[in-house]
Amino acid sequence: METVDLLIKNANELVTLNGPNRSRIKKEMSNLSIIKSGSVAVNNGKIIETGKNLKYKAKKTIDASGKTVIPGFVDPHTHVVFAGSREFELDMKLKGSSYMDILKQGGGIFYTVNQTRKATDKDLIDQSKKRLDIMLRHGTTTCEAKTGYGLNTDTELRILKIQKKLNETHKIDIISTFLGAHAVPKKYSTEEYVDVVVNEMIPKVKKLAKFCDVFCEKNVFTIEQSRKILDAGKKHGLKPKIHADEIVDTGGAGLAAEIDAISADHLLMSSDRGLKQMAKKAVIGVLLPGTPFSLMMQKYSPARKMINFGVPVALATDLNPNCWTENMQLMIQLACFNMKMTPAEAVCAATFNAACAIDQNDKIGSLEKGKEADLLILDCSNYMQIPYHFGVNLVETVIKKGKILK
Ligand code: NIG
Ligand code: FE
Repeated sequence: METVDLLIKNANELVTLNGPNRSRIKKEMSNLSIIKSGSVAVNNGKIIETGKNLKYKAKKTIDASGKTVIPGFVDPHTHVVFAGSREFELDMKLKGSSYMDILKQGGGIFYTVNQTRKATDKDLIDQSKKRLDIMLRHGTTTCEAKTGYGLNTDTELRILKIQKKLNETHKIDIISTFLGAHAVPKKYSTEEYVDVVVNEMIPKVKKLAKFCDVFCEKNVFTIEQSRKILDAGKKHGLKPKIHADEIVDTGGAGLAAEIDAISADHLLMSSDRGLKQMAKKAVIGVLLPGTPFSLMMQKYSPARKMINFGVPVALATDLNPNCWTENMQLMIQLACFNMKMTPAEAVCAATFNAACAIDQNDKIGSLEKGKEADLLILDCSNYMQIPYHFGVNLVETVIKKGKILK
């Protein structure tokens, strides 16, 4: 009998998200490929086999009777590296100020940019590490991280280097996105700043980031300016992502389809036409229900409509000082209760489709032979309890690359 490093056996539900289309984006979001009384064998950090009654000798065995085992959560949209906090904005929001009101008054992103520029590398690393620790305890084993609180070449590069260092030292894997076009610093016109992003920043950051993103929004970057930035990113090997149609429909979803973005994120206000264009090109819709929640908006992204149109949907926290949560379980809960996604769709969106949204689905996002052994043992008997039993941390054990971390 073969000896393996780790055997998790007898899980009431082993949620594999495995299937014939596994290397492509999971269109069938409702089919989680669950093995009842399932086991998973792990060796050298990789999954060797999943099934029932696996016959291995194991250096360590975990009995998961009565528990649910799922892939580690993937958080495909975060702004995890920033300094300071903005809790005082809650009072302003309660008094009726909108996100854009606060930004126009020099608050919001600009406040955090000032704090971030002033912070030392050690401060930024310590503050971000604390957030990553919380993410891990809540089951996130891989995340994306954006820049965007530098807004000058030096600080944007500094943030990318900090992300690299965190990726090397923290258990969570971090995939970097350059978001120099997050807001326009006061000393520039928008056109001037687009030039800085395109001609100065992108050539310098390209080795440190995998994706290029832009906050395409009314009074921030127009469709034309966003296209220019994302095209420049593409020329330097950065795949496009886009903050699209969050507050106003400016046609961001359509632009994402036109330029073959890997994902378009937020999508609260997108037109049906834009969403259908995304479906045609299999652009992933990354939905961030923490944002309308923290902005006290009545409106959430129309997830049901998107899924009906065939848009592959993923979920993410958007972790940032305006929407400060590290918890992907909360996103699944908000997705079900406020966007009417089914528990199965939400779990798929937080694991496999989320891995697709950051181009990591060949390595993570499902439990199948050859993939990294990133998995969670949840203290619940079935996956439907992830949204149903809300507001607590159901994650009992976190396993990253075969190592038991929690
Ligand atoms: O995705 N919308 C733009 N960027 C972030 C918020 C950043 C901030 O407010 O600090 C977002 O929601
Ligand atoms: Fe964001």
